[in-house]
Amino acid sequence: MIPRCPSIDKRIFEVLTRLEEQSRKEKSGEVKVKHKDAMLAISFDTGIFFNILLKASKAKRILEVGTSTGYSTLWFADAVMSMGQRQNSQRLQDRKFITTIESNRSKVRRAEKNFSDAGVDSIVQIIQGQARSVLHSISKDPEAGKPGDLFDFVFLDADKENLPTYFNIVLSLVKPGGIISTDNMLYPEELRPQMQRFAKYIRKLPNVQSVTVPIGNGEEISMKLVE
Ligand SMILES: C[S@@+](CC[C@H](N)C(=O)[O-])C[C@H]1O[C@@H](n2cnc3c(N)ncnc32)[C@H](O)[C@@H]1O
Repeated sequence: MIPRCPSIDKRIFEVLTRLEEQSRKEKSGEVKVKHKDAMLAISFDTGIFFNILLKASKAKRILEVGTSTGYSTLWFADAVMSMGQRQNSQRLQDRKFITTIESNRSKVRRAEKNFSDAGVDSIVQIIQGQARSVLHSISKDPEAGKPGDLFDFVFLDADKENLPTYFNIVLSLVKPGGIISTDNMLYPEELRPQMQRFAKYIRKLPNVQSVTVPIGNGEEISMKLVE
């Protein structure tokens, strides 16, 4: 049973609760699923952490690499929705504030259902495809890189092999002062050497300030500095 979260939209929270239960069963081995079908979701604490971070920084435009079934996306969507309510914005429903990328077709379908059940499908765009080519096409969009179209927050949570490539592309798509977060900096342990090399790489970039936060599987929080 997960704690009550009165500040989270009721419909979103109902879907989060259902997904949290599924995630718990998968992690404990109570249900057996193939690796390609597993949720591999962020932890509940990590979800709240991002939700607070996004609300406090008033982030609206969000890009996620690695949707799975949409658990993390729902925490982001709640933050965006709450901002619309604070600003009493009727136009919130008109824009896809959140773009999320997933290569696995069946997970895309599961995420679509979860977004629809949670009432956030009008603000979330799922792009099915390989992250590298989708990110390249987003970065070639004539609107990409223009101030109004830059992202406030990017979450990197797909394959780790291409992380430096993903990071470099999204760095050009994020606002100065915006944040790129990378999952799995500390766990699973077998990824640690690779993630440490990645941390070393981004900490040498002149326009990035970065730290590993030991929550969930370890979240790298990297801010793009004003150039
Ligand atoms: C750790 S899961 C994402 C979990 C999700 N962010 C959450 O917390 O609910 C990683 C996902 O990335 C997808 N993925 C892996 N490599 C990918 C790639 N190269 N392009 C797009 N998606 C990819 C996998 O299919 C998987 O669903």
